[in-house]
Amino acid sequence: MFQKPRGTNDIYLEAIDDFNYVCERLKYIANLYNFHQIITPTFESLDLFIKNIGEQTDIVHKEVYSFKDKGDRWLALRPEGTAGVVRSYVENKLYANQNEVSKFWYILNLFRYERPQKGRNREFYQFGVEYLGSNSKLDIIDCIVFANSILKLLGLKNYELKINYLGDKETRDKWIDDLKQYFSKFKDDLTKDSINRLDKNPLRILDDKIDGEKDFVKNAPKLTAHLDDQSLNDFKTIQNHLTSLGIQYQVDESLVRGLDYYNNCVFEFVSTNDELSKSTIIGGGCYDELIKNTGGPDLKGLGFAIGIERLIIALKAESLITLPNKNIEYLVASLNSEDDLLAFAISTKLKNKGVNSDYIYTNKKQKINKYAYLINAKNIIWVDENSNTSNKILIEDLASNEKKELNINDIFNLKGINNE
Ligand code: HAM
Repeated sequence: MFQKPRGTNDIYLEAIDDFNYVCERLKYIANLYNFHQIITPTFESLDLFIKNIGEQTDIVHKEVYSFKDKGDRWLALRPEGTAGVVRSYVENKLYANQNEVSKFWYILNLFRYERPQKGRNREFYQFGVEYLGSNSKLDIIDCIVFANSILKLLGLKNYELKINYLGDKETRDKWIDDLKQYFSKFKDDLTKDSINRLDKNPLRILDDKIDGEKDFVKNAPKLTAHLDDQSLNDFKTIQNHLTSLGIQYQVDESLVRGLDYYNNCVFEFVSTNDELSKSTIIGGGCYDELIKNTGGPDLKGLGFAIGIERLIIALKAESLITLPNKNIEYLVASLNSEDDLLAFAISTKLKNKGVNSDYIYTNKKQKINKYAYLINAKNIIWVDENSNTSNKILIEDLASNEKKELNINDIFNLKGINNE
């Protein structure tokens, strides 16, 4: 017997209803914000991710699914959506003749070789948005407000917003040098993982699950010491706007995000629900250099992505997924094998007229009633041994238990059936 690969999911029955419910709500909200959908390829050149996410990040270094295709090209299953969307924006010159910011949303499946646990999979789904060609410092406020209103519109209460300011690349490089010097003094107290990161990616030591809790890591040099007046001012303005819009936040100086393309403001919405033990539901921020680094013009971008599986866990923990009852208008049932074709024809004709219906063939009445209950049928159309000759069927309203005899053709004149 075959089994699905570790860290992947089959999504069916209630789980697919939850998934579709959440995706529909997210699409609806994206429309309210005037974003346009984009679908990019499931795999891209490996270099796109190495260059943009960063060779030394965990995502590229440890988690990317890469392979050589039959044409000897190095490709990778996308570990995130931003790099591909930006590649498409640049390749298709979507910035041409456009003064306005291009706003895209996506729902994509993504792949990361991570250790699977609740809310962490090797194939998972994200709803993401990107503002490309951003020309206003206010876009970051719009972006955070957008992310916040998604959680609000879905009714979620148990979450916190964390923000930080990373400055530009030069600022970050200076800070990274500081951190390298500082952590090298504590080599004996760091985990093996952190020692490996010390030279290449010391930022990850700050949010390491084990080392991040240690006092000397909490007291490590802060980025703010390197921020210039303009950056400090911009960060203050963002905070003032959030406060005046009534959005609660915490400044978290250890929030560095796991992708190298970010600069300036970054943010995360973290679940405070026990079910998700403080995991991040939404992550995002600004990427001023990404469009240029992908070969496009010097335009800024920003965005965020929501982990759909984590969002579903958070919504369920607060009982916020209420699926509408799915009704089948008519179940066409034949008790006699000679009438099967007639029952099938009636059901097909109903569907062709836009009425949802199903059919069942069995000589056991009890089975028919059980199936009608299971699929939430409103009516049963009983086709019996006389129907073919008499042209008559019995229609039973399952709410009132009322039964009516009808001419077969009269079924299609019933209320709600389109006869155009
Ligand atoms: P990220 O923080 O890597 O950002 O991922 C965003 C969200 O995807 C996370 O907060 C989490 O909810 C979900 N997620 C990440 N990894 C997994 C996993 N292995 N299993 C389940 N869910 C997961 C990005 O991907 C950026 N591209 C976001 C962005 C868009 N920034 C700007 N624009």
